[in-house]
Amino acid sequence: MSITPTTPRFIELHHPDAQSLRDELAAGLSAEPAHIAPKFLYDALGSRLFEAITELPEYYPTRTEATIFERHAADIARAIGPAATLIDLGAGNCEKAARLFATLQPARYVAVDISVNFVRGALTSLQQRFPTLPMLGVGLDFSHSLALPAQAVAGRPAFFYPGSSIGNFTPEAALPFLRSIRDTCQGGGLLIGVDLVKPVDVLEPAYDDALGVTAAFNLNLLLHLNRLIGSDFALRQWKHVALFNAAASRIEMHLEAREALRVRWIRGERKFAAGERIHTENSYKYTPQAFTALLRDAGFTDVQAWYDERRWFAQFWARGRS
Ligand code: AVJ
Repeated sequence: MSITPTTPRFIELHHPDAQSLRDELAAGLSAEPAHIAPKFLYDALGSRLFEAITELPEYYPTRTEATIFERHAADIARAIGPAATLIDLGAGNCEKAARLFATLQPARYVAVDISVNFVRGALTSLQQRFPTLPMLGVGLDFSHSLALPAQAVAGRPAFFYPGSSIGNFTPEAALPFLRSIRDTCQGGGLLIGVDLVKPVDVLEPAYDDALGVTAAFNLNLLLHLNRLIGSDFALRQWKHVALFNAAASRIEMHLEAREALRVRWIRGERKFAAGERIHTENSYKYTPQAFTALLRDAGFTDVQAWYDERRWFAQFWARGRS
């Protein structure tokens, strides 16, 4: 038997310009109410804390999504069809996609992540386990626009966007994002994991766990800001708040000032009153009907979904134009 070992290729499309990053952060901190985009939760420590979150008893999404793949792998593979290019959006450690390789048998694997360095390590070791699968790593912040190079999208692409990461977008912002996926996936489609509406006594503990890992994950944002903009946030003056906003159908995470305080950063400062908050994340929860409608509005057809027994999470497959 002879196998031709392949080496992963990498493209860096995301050149974060330090000054515009600092301007974006300073503008968010100065706004009423203050807000910081959730992508800033993921520095090196934040990424590890998020991995720890996925192991918590209260945080059901990751393991619930995994049970859907276990229960319905064959049906999902049949719906997607043969020999697609699997494009993993927000690939991180690439583990979720790697677990699908055996059933999906993709012809190529493209891992897209805001951090090409994170993906570089993951793809290099993944290539050892799957020596003949062509792999491409792309460094891209697709939260603003999905501008993938032609070589990445070639060959009936099946986009993979698991974990309910779509929940970070407002439905108004999710629509153009999904449209741009539809526009690039000619003949292929989108496999997307979506967290569903459920009782608040399940939702809120998932974002405010007893061990305090989610609190650490949220507060770590301030350590990241201190490095990015030279701010002097003192973590002991802040507390983690997670609540379900039923009217908007979303979990909100905030950081709340425990006392009146002042924060200074390079070329800026702001006072916070006791109880004042910085909004750090939205995590939208959908009904199956609402998410199906969103996919159709974005131009997808043949929408199919699979669920876990409790119907806490859904995995959707939807086709682009054929
Ligand atoms: C990675 C955006 C899907 O919203 O559940 C987990 C992030 N925040 N705990 C989610 C998160 C707090 C997570 N997503």
